[in-house]
Amino acid sequence: MILTNTPSNTTSTGTARHAPAATDVLVHIDNFKLPPGWSSPVDAAMLSRQCCEHLEDGRILYFDGIPFEFPGEDLQFLLSQRQSGSRLHKNVSFRPRQDVLRGAAGDPADVQRLKTVMRRYSQHVTSFIRHLLMPYTEHFQLDYASFRPEQEEGRDLPVHKRNDLLHFDAFPTRPMHGRRILRCFTNVNPTEGRIWNTTDGFSTLAGKFAADAGLAGFAAHGSPRSNPLVRALKKAFGMKAVDHSAYDRFMLRFHDYLKENTDFQQSCPKTRIEYAPGSTWLCYTDSVPHAVLSGQYALEQTFIIPLQALVAPEKSPLRVLEKLAGMPLTAQSA
Ligand code: SIN
Ligand code: FE
Repeated sequence: MILTNTPSNTTSTGTARHAPAATDVLVHIDNFKLPPGWSSPVDAAMLSRQCCEHLEDGRILYFDGIPFEFPGEDLQFLLSQRQSGSRLHKNVSFRPRQDVLRGAAGDPADVQRLKTVMRRYSQHVTSFIRHLLMPYTEHFQLDYASFRPEQEEGRDLPVHKRNDLLHFDAFPTRPMHGRRILRCFTNVNPTEGRIWNTTDGFSTLAGKFAADAGLAGFAAHGSPRSNPLVRALKKAFGMKAVDHSAYDRFMLRFHDYLKENTDFQQSCPKTRIEYAPGSTWLCYTDSVPHAVLSGQYALEQTFIIPLQALVAPEKSPLRVLEKLAGMPLTAQSA
């Protein structure tokens, strides 16, 4: 892991602005690996809670290697996709709860094998989260996993889809209603690091930009549940019937707002993080601003954490925004 704080930019008033210190952002964990888990089992509950506190404070937990089972043959298969010229060279997603692989095309035997690898990866990383983050064990929901075999540097994507611009994650088709997006990544590339930039955390950026991004308007509109009849009709016609709260609408807007904001993207203080080949890291990507600058071949599993499982719910983006807006942003918190 290599960390650099970029030279601070100079504000219009001439005062130097500093990037968040890398040591404040990353927490290196070297005493946990499954099996069996914590190297000092008597401290497991305390260490586990500390990990949740770090994550909820906007830090990234970093492991030098893969802290869960990962069969060598699965790794070899993923990397063999580099040379094969196969059409598996796309970002693919795996939905563990439905056991469905999306986005992979090509030789049916390869697609089937990739599904088996993704299923196994998802099971092992889930077991890892259960043991590492015990306060969440009873509550989290398993979301999608992904394999990202494309080189991130120089991808030609429309601005809102560009992952090399700093952003917080929000899913257009999966409203969170204040629940958190926790993501675990492994850089499976044996030789190339994966490079991220980060900057000030959610409460700082929300304090600076939420008003300009329209928070008051989203809050005033409220979180009306759509008509049950309309929802049933949509479902009957195979359309997605999703209910977005004011929180979800704002988070989707904030994602786009930050990516569109060239002044912010260019002038904000940045901390560069290089995730070494074979390393693993996890963070709440709805509150850790991130941009992936380069890297190829990453695995990722997303978990949804409900508010009641958090050790410090008052630090969640929902509560931060509600404080700024002065009113509830979901039907539940009304
Ligand atoms: C993201 O922006 O969520 C992707 C990060 C990555 O692929 O490293
Ligand atoms: Fe993202």
